Amino acid sequence: MSAAAPRSVWSSRWAFILVTVGSAVGLGNIWRFPYMTGTHGGSAFVLVYLLCVALVGLPLLMAEILIGRRGRGNPVSAMLKVAEENGASPWWGVLGWVGVLGALLILSYYSVVAGWVIDYMRQIVSGVKTVTPEAAAQGFGDLLADPLRLILWHTMFLALTVGVVARGVLSGIERASLLLMPALFAILLFLVLWGGMVGNMRAAWHFMFDFKPELLTGQVVLSAMGHAFFSLSLGMGAVMAYGSYLDKQSSIAHNSFWIALADTLVGLLAGLAIFSLTFAHGLEAASGPGLVFQTLPLVFAHMPGGQAVGTFFFLLVLFAAWTSAISLVEPFVAWMTERLGVRRAIAAWGTGFAVWLLGAAVCLSLNDWSGWKLFGLNLFDQLDYLTSRILMPLSGLAVALFVGWIMSRENVRDEIPLPAAHFQIWRWVLRYVTILAIVLVFVYRLTNPDS
Ligand code: PHE
Repeated sequence: MSAAAPRSVWSSRWAFILVTVGSAVGLGNIWRFPYMTGTHGGSAFVLVYLLCVALVGLPLLMAEILIGRRGRGNPVSAMLKVAEENGASPWWGVLGWVGVLGALLILSYYSVVAGWVIDYMRQIVSGVKTVTPEAAAQGFGDLLADPLRLILWHTMFLALTVGVVARGVLSGIERASLLLMPALFAILLFLVLWGGMVGNMRAAWHFMFDFKPELLTGQVVLSAMGHAFFSLSLGMGAVMAYGSYLDKQSSIAHNSFWIALADTLVGLLAGLAIFSLTFAHGLEAASGPGLVFQTLPLVFAHMPGGQAVGTFFFLLVLFAAWTSAISLVEPFVAWMTERLGVRRAIAAWGTGFAVWLLGAAVCLSLNDWSGWKLFGLNLFDQLDYLTSRILMPLSGLAVALFVGWIMSRENVRDEIPLPAAHFQIWRWVLRYVTILAIVLVFVYRLTNPDS
């Protein structure tokens, strides 16, 4: 794109909020958050998580949007431009690269998990019922053991994702989010109401919100913080890329507040719906990553209207994963179109193909290639480890350092015209609290590989 060509701008601030909520709300909210809450003692995890969203997530979300909008470009160009404006080293451009490439690494396994969702949806639509826990475990095991089935769904999910990005920022990404997000909210509310009617909402509520200080361990605190990162799509260029299409008049602080609030509410509501159904059937909350793929199908098989509710549930997860995946492709596609002048459709499908290859290897790492391990991890776990434990916190830390300490106060102030006292508080939290918190998570997660 030549410098003179106009860049897209979201059609309203609500469109920006919806697309960014679309990025934030994903497998993280509906799959990861409930199972982590289940395995980390419920309320202790939830309350610390809320604190982390406020002290780390929200300040960083504002900082990333700020860089994107100030730099008005893909994450790499935006970082370079803002660094130059503030007299900082062009090495800061590396931060943009970490985000852009890290996002593609995440997408390669995210798309495989989203593929599982499609498979489960197909099963439930075609009337498959999982009646015993053994059958549930067997069903999940069979799926993971079948490379062709995994690759088929991975291909389909990636094609859906790339198809939207290829259409463009406004007629692809914005339009998809405007359609999918309201549908997602409606399905979620329906599931919560249903959980309230036929499930054990009271038990779910106590499990998630009764504060039990004895359950609060270092691991709970740090996992909660790591999850706040993942759930708000931080450190991966996604938010920066979306922020680059935000109108200059729109308030970054207020928009970020709504985004963080909506993302958190979706996680909490999904948790309430899932646990109220799980408890009503006397099943375990602490079943780990299998909560959505093994425990819930059992619930659906035994409850009235389970086939319809189950179908809606997996549709909800699919929509959530889809809008997040879109935001993982956009940063690199934006870079290719802006820096290399490649047409958007070609950039999108080319990127999709590269991610597809890596994703196909991820599918094989769960079965035929499972013997191939590095540091005791298969490719699937390696990618998860590298992105969520190393790249995300490091890049979040760099964003906080850059906006908190490298950018001039005037430039930052220009983007965040909050009342002076509010601005001071935000900047102080970003400069000290956020940075300290990330350093703690990073060190802890590296030294505790099992957390
Ligand atoms: N926030 C998404 C989720 O909760 C995942 C994601 C991470 C998306 C990083 C974009 C960037 O599933």
